[in-house]
Amino acid sequence: MRTVLVLNGPNLSRLGSREPDVYGTATLDQLAQECAETASELGIIVDFRQTDDEAELLGWVHEAADRRLPMVLNPAAFTHYSYGLRDALAMRTAPLVEVHLSNPAAREAFRHNSVVAGVADGTIAGFGFDSYRLALRAIAGLLPADA
Ligand code: DQA
Repeated sequence: MRTVLVLNGPNLSRLGSREPDVYGTATLDQLAQECAETASELGIIVDFRQTDDEAELLGWVHEAADRRLPMVLNPAAFTHYSYGLRDALAMRTAPLVEVHLSNPAAREAFRHNSVVAGVADGTIAGFGFDSYRLALRAIAGLLPADA
C-alpha cells in the first residue's frame, strides 16, 4: 500500500483550544484518526505529522522527495511567507495537495496569498476536517494505479 505523508505546520497542535470559532473544537489527534480512517477506505497508509519548526518541516519535505512520497500539506502560517518551504516543495517527486481547515481567502489580507499554491497540484480549503478527507481523495486519484 502506498504511504502518503500528511504534514501539518505551526500551531496546529493546538487544535481544540485554538480559536475554536475558526478551527472548531476537535483536536489534532482526532484529525489524525479521521485521516487514518479515510486512508483505509482509500487503500493507502497515512503518516501523519505536525511541527512548529520550519527546519523540521523542510526535512520532512526533503524526505518525501527522496522517497517519492505524495504529500497532503497544511503549511499553516508558513503558507503565507516561507519561500524556503516553497523551494523545498518545488523539488517534490510525487503529488502534493495543499490543505487548509479555514478558508484563508475569506480571512485577513495577509492570508490571501499562498507561496505554496504555485508548486502544488491543487488546494482544498474551508471545509474543516473534511478538507483533509477531500485532499486524501484527490491525492489517491493522482497516484498511478500500480503504485
Ligand atoms: C490554516 C490557515 C492559515 O492562514 C493559518 O496561519 C493556520 C491554519 C488553516 O488550516 O486554516 O495556521 O492553514
